[in-house]
Amino acid sequence: MPHRIFATRQLPGDAFRRLLADDDYDVEVWPQDAPPPRPDLLAGAADADGILCLITDAIDEAVLDAAGSGLKIVSQMAVGVDNVDTAACAARGIAVGRTPGVLTDTTADLAWALILATARRLVEAADYVRDGEWKTWSPTQLAGTDVHGAALGIVGFGAIGQAVARRARGFDMAVRYWNRTPRPAEAAELGAEFAEFDELLAASDFVSLNIALTGDTRGLIDAAALSKMQPHAILINTARGPVVDEAALAEALANGGIAAAGLDVTAVEPISAGSPLLSMPNAIVLPHVGSSSLATRSKMADIAVSNLRAALEGRPIPHPAPPPT
Ligand code: GLV
Repeated sequence: MPHRIFATRQLPGDAFRRLLADDDYDVEVWPQDAPPPRPDLLAGAADADGILCLITDAIDEAVLDAAGSGLKIVSQMAVGVDNVDTAACAARGIAVGRTPGVLTDTTADLAWALILATARRLVEAADYVRDGEWKTWSPTQLAGTDVHGAALGIVGFGAIGQAVARRARGFDMAVRYWNRTPRPAEAAELGAEFAEFDELLAASDFVSLNIALTGDTRGLIDAAALSKMQPHAILINTARGPVVDEAALAEALANGGIAAAGLDVTAVEPISAGSPLLSMPNAIVLPHVGSSSLATRSKMADIAVSNLRAALEGRPIPHPAPPPT
């Protein structure tokens, strides 16, 4: 009997193409470019031996129940697995796979794109030209903030946080980081200094969030944290939206508590069209495209398929998710 797989979307990459052609696998692919609605997710998961999923799919007890006792692996095409109930999977002996490494630099590039775009007001400036507002050159026209020589604070010093720090060297920045466990060796190599969380917020011109979403980090950047940042400071989030209290952020941006925000992720995705953040000139909101280069997304899909195959072919999976905390 072939292994029954439910893939919640068509994936890029060679490994997925080969999986579809493999007689040992019977792969049902959700055909639309939007996530399966809940009833379709449950129906697709029914009797699956493996689920290939994305961050848009809530893989919870009900999905695991729908799959039943044959389910061996939930293989996610992402590094973050906060949409997967990893504790429930562990309790049932179901492996959870993820795709670290290959997206590190692509995501750090995007964090940097947001640092530069917010500091130099690139979206506003491009709109200004597009809207026919550009009449002359003037001394303080669309003046922004310097990035070179500024103080960068990195919250979460895993692979992506470190890659953000590495890029800061070319901009002569003073880099501080905060991580639950200090990482002195990596920090020394990158010229970064450990700072306590509050100290980092107070000392940074740019704060980049590169921390996983967990029970401990949900709402980490709340009104109290924002009030510790300087009025000229800029917040960048390429991690997960719920790390930030979005209402508090909108208030800080409106009242001059901080200067600007560059967000690749939002509390609810897609962000609601009525969000105040979308009408603020000092907020740039992107649709969660941190890892979205064609090359990287294909590599992520390849890893997701290799995790899936390993679990179903009786080998240890190459990239398991961290154990639930
Ligand atoms: C994307 O956000 C990922 O976790 O890979």
